[in-house]
This record gives sequence, structure tokens and C-alpha cells, in this order.
Amino acid sequence: MYMKGIILAGGAGSRLYPLTLVASKQLQPVYDKPMVYYPLTTLLENGVREFCLISTPQDLPRFRQLLGDGTSLGVTIEYREQPKPAGIAQAFLIAETFIGGDPVALILGDNLFYGGDSFLQAFKDFRTGATIFGYQVDDAERYGVVEFDAAGKAVSIEEKPISPRSNYAVPGLYLYDDQVVAITRALEPSPRGELEITDVNKEYLRRGALRVWRLSRGFAWLDAGTSSSLHDASAYVQTIEKRQGIKIGCPEEAAFRQGFLDLERLRLTVSRLPSCEYRAYLEKVVKESGASRAT
Ligand code: DAU
Repeated sequence: MYMKGIILAGGAGSRLYPLTLVASKQLQPVYDKPMVYYPLTTLLENGVREFCLISTPQDLPRFRQLLGDGTSLGVTIEYREQPKPAGIAQAFLIAETFIGGDPVALILGDNLFYGGDSFLQAFKDFRTGATIFGYQVDDAERYGVVEFDAAGKAVSIEEKPISPRSNYAVPGLYLYDDQVVAITRALEPSPRGELEITDVNKEYLRRGALRVWRLSRGFAWLDAGTSSSLHDASAYVQTIEKRQGIKIGCPEEAAFRQGFLDLERLRLTVSRLPSCEYRAYLEKVVKESGASRAT
């Protein structure tokens, strides 16, 4: 099902200080691109064409400068401020008029996914309720954790439990129907003073409307929230890109492959880029597509 997309790219970024003194976390480089390119590309690859990007009042102008209104990608991008980091779920209240009764995918601006088309079926099958994902990790206590019963049905979700009931963490990509706004409005802030995304998911679970897809072992989910994980993410991207001669997290390519940009439009977008490795890559994409269409 077609969905709108929210990219949440606010927060204090204090764990990356002093990198984040003048540029927010989601604008930091992950190897050869700004971090936000990766979640943006993930949503593009799953057919999202209407975006709302939420960040702090200080950082929002930078994101606007980076991504514009989406025309160069054949999509629309709106921008909304989150004055204070009052919780991930607050995104739904900020974006209420953007959501406007449609289903919506929320992605965290520091989550990086790679590996085939793992989300495609979940997006395609989505009708109502909520869909989230489970990914096996070694340090589940750092995340939202989902527990399954013997039949593979989700039975509990907890935010950063001291003793996790499973090693399935919930990554920062969530699909919801428009009920998410009313559900969030009814939430109480958690002890840390935030509207928790895990509380939204718990409410869908209580209603019997939560679906959890387990991501396969071959899939990569990285979060780039600390200096060390930021470095690891860069190293990962570099390794794959060098080995395969492809780029991960290239929004222009994803928009083109989705048909949001035709070949002429992609050519035009590329012609406006400065001479650099990124441009050379996109020129290769243009050339190969032109050649494959000619044959
Ligand atoms: O990465 C997945 C995890 O993200 C989930 O497993 C957890 O259930 C979920 O609570 C969240 O945990 P984190 O501890 O990583 O959340 P954090 O507060 O670091 O926020 C994640 C991103 O969202 C971060 O890049 C900043 C942004 N953010 C966060 C809050 C609370 C905002 O833009 N605004 C906010 O109010």
C-alpha cells in the first residue's frame, strides 16, 4: 500500500559532541554521504513519494538546504520543527496535518538499513494497524525489545529492558495507519519525559493490531548514534561500495529506479552536480540505463 513518510532527524545529538556543535547528527557523513540520505533512500526504495522531515528549529534550515522541496527527486518534502526532543512519537502530533488520514511510515534519521528488498513485502501488505520489525542483536537492552511466543506471535514489547525477554530489537522504521495520531494523543509521557514510540506499539499490540516482521540474518541494520558506531557504519558502507561498485543510500538513483524521475530528469539533476565521485557514479547509472533501454 502507498504510504507517506516521516523522517525524524532532531534530538540533541549530545552523544556525538563536539561533532554536533554546528551540524546535527543526521547531517554527519556516513562514508561519502550525509547520514539522512540513507533513511531517505530506504523510504524511496519502498515507494514513498511524500515526505515530512522533522528536526530542531536550528537544524531544519540545513536539511532544507540539503534536500530542497524534493523536486530534484520527483517527490515532495515538507519540513516541520520539533522545538524540544519530547519523544519519537511526538512526530505524529507534529505531522498530523501531513498525515491527514493516510498510512504513514516513520523512519529515524540515524538508522541505516541495507540488504535486498526486506521491507518491500511489509509495505505492500500493509492495510491497517501497525507493522514493525524485529532484528536479532547482541545488546537488546539498548533498544525496544519484542518477545515472541512459540507460534512466532509478538506477545510483549519493552523499551530498553534491563533483562530483555528476547534478543529481537525493534529498528527505527515503523508503519502505521492514521490511528497513530489519536493513539499518540492519548499517551502519557514516560518517566524520562518522552512520548515513547514503544508505548504506541504497545497500544497497537493491546488492540491486536500489531504485526511484527522478523528481518533475516543477512540483513544489515546499523545505527550511527555514537562516534564508534558512526565509524563502523562508514566502514561498512565503504566496504560494500568498493566491493560492488554500487552506492548505498543514493536517493537520486532510488528515485530513478522507482520511476519518480525519468531518464531525462535524472540527467538534468546530474548535470547540476559539481564534478565529483558522486556525480561520476550517477553518470554511470544514466549511461547504463540509457544503454539497456536502447537494446
Ligand atoms: O534505533 C532504534 C531505537 O530507537 C528503538 O529500538 C527504540 O525503541 C527507540 O526508543 C529508539 O531508541 P533510542 O535510544 O535510539 O532513541 P533516541 O532517543 O536516541 O532517538 C532516536 C533518534 O530520534 C535520534 O537520532 C534522535 C531522534 N529524536 C529522538 C527524540 C527522543 C528526535 O528527533 N526527537 C526526539 O524527541
